[in-house]
Amino acid sequence: MGRTSSSLVKRLMNDNGLTMPPPFVRHVFVCTNRRPDGSPKGCCASKGGEEVRLEFKHQLDAHGVKGQIRANVAGCLDACEQGVSCVVYPEGTWYGQVTKDDVKEIVEEHLLKGKPVERLLMKPYEKPRKT
Ligand code: FES
Repeated sequence: MGRTSSSLVKRLMNDNGLTMPPPFVRHVFVCTNRRPDGSPKGCCASKGGEEVRLEFKHQLDAHGVKGQIRANVAGCLDACEQGVSCVVYPEGTWYGQVTKDDVKEIVEEHLLKGKPVERLLMKPYEKPRKT
């Protein structure tokens, strides 16, 4: 772990009081689930889920923190209508309708500084009833 990364870990752990198992300080899961065309729920894959995940990896690498903050593929997070759906731990912060263009802001504000991006937070919604 380099000097920059080590100080990032200490700062984030002190600032938010939340911890992740070492070496990670934050972990973002990005839904890339794909459903057949025409599915009424839609899916994150058709809305750019894989593109969003790859941009997270690119941004984390560009900031030199990919060993401390990780972006992983997730299956369906059961918020399909809000996709592309992402969730950040340890806070448990959910983002909805995320695009590739939003990722840099989430990385720089939330993942690095601990300040969730309000405009992208997933809106409360009522899940469709199962019939
Ligand atoms: S398909 Fe992404 S949350 Fe369900």
